[in-house]
Amino acid sequence: MNPEVQELASLMRQLAHMAGEILIDGRPDAARSASVETSTKTSPTDIVTERDLASEKAIVQALAQARPGDGIVGEEGSNIESTTGYTWIIDPLDGTINYLYGSPQWAVSIAVADEAGTVAGIVYAPLAGYEYWAVRGEGAYRIDRDGEVRLPQVEDVDLAHALFATGFGYRSDRRAQQIRVMSAVLPQIRDIRRKGSAALDLCMAASGMVNGYFERGAHPWDYAAGALVAREAGCVVSGLRDNAESATMVVCAPPRLHAQIKELLESLDADLGD
Ligand code: IPD
Repeated sequence: MNPEVQELASLMRQLAHMAGEILIDGRPDAARSASVETSTKTSPTDIVTERDLASEKAIVQALAQARPGDGIVGEEGSNIESTTGYTWIIDPLDGTINYLYGSPQWAVSIAVADEAGTVAGIVYAPLAGYEYWAVRGEGAYRIDRDGEVRLPQVEDVDLAHALFATGFGYRSDRRAQQIRVMSAVLPQIRDIRRKGSAALDLCMAASGMVNGYFERGAHPWDYAAGALVAREAGCVVSGLRDNAESATMVVCAPPRLHAQIKELLESLDADLGD
């Protein structure tokens, strides 16, 4: 591996672990946040907001020291222009609702990109007990309590046998449109999973825990790292029609399945409307 990329990958891992510690330390009390409605609207929500910000702030500060001049795009508003050609794409907490409810299915997602796309990415889920990372051209890896394994190339399946992960937007009009699409997709596939973290959904596709993933409305910080992990494990990641993945649509699956689900979603105009 090129030494600069190796340095980026090692820094990326340190940053994700540091942010993971901040989030573990400040996580809300699950019993209160999940069951008491007023709590979800007041203090537990504040705690999530404060932890989101604290996590991003710590990552940005560490980056400013380690790699001044690199660009930064963060979910919580960081936006720094790059003078080095590298830009970091950060979701300091993907799966915020799971975090709020005390579910372990949340992650820190950090990617670093150059002009050719994502160079390296990590999705670190400390409470779930695993992380995925990838470097462009070098494969994708999973680390858990059993150690580190390189992900094998994903197996392809046909649409009728495919289990998909997906996500829904926060806006109710967007959700209404997503349900319209889903009502046409669901009868044609094995089933869907809605886990609540786009970054982890993509890693599940990479590791064969689902066959694919699609979502309208996910942002680069949600999908940049996970998309590299999925690509390095043999998935195709794109938007619909001839577009690259974007907030309009992300479709991820092994090649044959990708072509089938993409065609179906296009026929349903899943990327159109608000
Ligand atoms: C959200 C999660 C969710 C996806 C949304 C994302 P957040 O990110 O990844 O699964 O459906 O599109 O916005 O808000 O938890 O960082």
